[in-house]
Amino acid sequence: MLITQEIENLLNRGARKAGVDKKLSISFSNMPKLCDFQCNDAFSLAKVFNENPFELASKIVENLDKSEDYIFEVARPAFINIKLTDKKLAEIANSYLIDEMGGVEKRERKEKIILDYGGANVAKALHAGHLRSPITGEGLKRLYTLLGDEVISDVHLGDWGLQMGLTELQLYEDGLLDYYFGTSEIKPTLTLEMLNEAYPKASARKNIDSAFKEKADKWTLKIQKKEQPYYDIYQEIRRVSIEKIKENYQALGATFDLWYGESDAAPYIDKAIKIIKDKGLAKESEGALVVDVAVEGENIPIEKKDPKEVQRYKNPMPPAIIQKYNGAALYATTDIATILMRNETIRDVDRIEYIVDARQKTHFIQVFRVCKMAGISPKNQQLIHIGYGTMNGKDGKPFKTRSGDTVKLSDIIDLLIDKASEKLKANNVKYDKTTALKIGVGAMKFGDLINNVGKDYIFDLDKFLAFEGKTGPYLQYSVVRINSILNKINDEQGQFFVNSEDERNIIRAILKLNSAYEIAYNEKSLSSICGACYDLASAFSTFYNNYKIINEQDKDKRASYIALIKLVKKKLEQALNVLAIEIPEKM
Ligand code: ARG
Repeated sequence: MLITQEIENLLNRGARKAGVDKKLSISFSNMPKLCDFQCNDAFSLAKVFNENPFELASKIVENLDKSEDYIFEVARPAFINIKLTDKKLAEIANSYLIDEMGGVEKRERKEKIILDYGGANVAKALHAGHLRSPITGEGLKRLYTLLGDEVISDVHLGDWGLQMGLTELQLYEDGLLDYYFGTSEIKPTLTLEMLNEAYPKASARKNIDSAFKEKADKWTLKIQKKEQPYYDIYQEIRRVSIEKIKENYQALGATFDLWYGESDAAPYIDKAIKIIKDKGLAKESEGALVVDVAVEGENIPIEKKDPKEVQRYKNPMPPAIIQKYNGAALYATTDIATILMRNETIRDVDRIEYIVDARQKTHFIQVFRVCKMAGISPKNQQLIHIGYGTMNGKDGKPFKTRSGDTVKLSDIIDLLIDKASEKLKANNVKYDKTTALKIGVGAMKFGDLINNVGKDYIFDLDKFLAFEGKTGPYLQYSVVRINSILNKINDEQGQFFVNSEDERNIIRAILKLNSAYEIAYNEKSLSSICGACYDLASAFSTFYNNYKIINEQDKDKRASYIALIKLVKKKLEQALNVLAIEIPEKM
């Protein structure tokens, strides 16, 4: 049982005995000199019971079971302060050292969750806008797994949309596909460079050249119908793209159980549409097939162009388009078919969570509503869009290159490696590329995850890479430092006992970190773990500066210090592993 839970139980037993049948809760104290936890509920309860707050708090404390572990005190006006005895703190620390989970509790109910993150598009280069999904997705996957859930991650590649038709048509017009159409003997080797050139060109063209756009629509449909040679070429484009996509995700440390794409759901499209039609949900609109998903009286916030603008609303929610005028599938179609596929091939899925740009909110509301209305997603299954905020440049606008283009993810990774290398060089550390990658990517991830997932933030590599402050490198360095102490000694570790306020601070930070896992789970955001991790590292740093560990002459004290830093290492490593931040050997 978490310590906080243990204290709350004790407190609630006392409250019941005192005739207070309302649930009390505690929080970490913001005055650690005074106490470790506090309960502020006497104020509001006094109003309910029409009593004097101080007297009520005192009555509760008088009725508490005797405890050797906790000291309860009422402080004016009506706070209940709770302090852990040194003995109890030491007991906790020693038990966490042995416990495999280090005191983190698994959740009571194990759930089966599909996590949809990554979402790279075949034929388009991964760009800055795709960075947050694998970072948060991987973190949530590890968090849920640690807390006992069964998690299946799916990269859900974008490989069944208009971009395929656009890219192929452009390649064709550039004379690169002659072989496939029988006008050349030489089979071309399609390269990533060719794709990176073709797609942006075609994408810009479709906006000004309607004949080109119409033709691309036709090509897309031919691919979706698996007509040759269109489908063969598509497969080749897909293969070339995926190679690079895998390389990018590997550098970021994002792992996937399933490498499915929209195309894998294609065999379920007809069935999904039939279910929707049979339920009488579909109607024709300008040749397309749509489902009305508006809810009466519902107001939908219109995205603001400027944060200072007053919030305006539109009504109703636009209908979901599930088939194009020419019969082709769209983004919503493949997402609906994917939910059908997931439910038919994986049993009893409790939740499907999508870590996708917050700007796709409307799309997900539409898709989820269609699936619920049509019974494609069972009633008790949760469909959740975890919308992430935008990564902005220093100008406060979505991160772009100087010429206004989107920044390629592979360029960001190279930049992270370069910047980390510069840092290491300046610090006179011998390093290799793997170390620079760990530090660069670790800095990026922490800089991202410390923000609540829904908030925008500014991409500021110099800030992310600082070795001091709330940064990834600072946390990595804390572990590296502990490792280097542990490498210099070969003592058996002894029992930890509390010897100073600095040590109390460390154990308190560990308790807080353990609570942060549950908070992160409920918020579906890893920021609380990042914050608690930093607090632990900085508590360790204070202790490290104030005490000699290796040169401590008192044997018991030395053994206790070693036990303590081993625990700090264990807890930091556990947290960094959840955040998928790797720890370099040296830095
Ligand atoms: N490929 C999409 C994009 O680039 C993201 C896919 C997200 N997942 C999903 N099931 N829709 O915007």
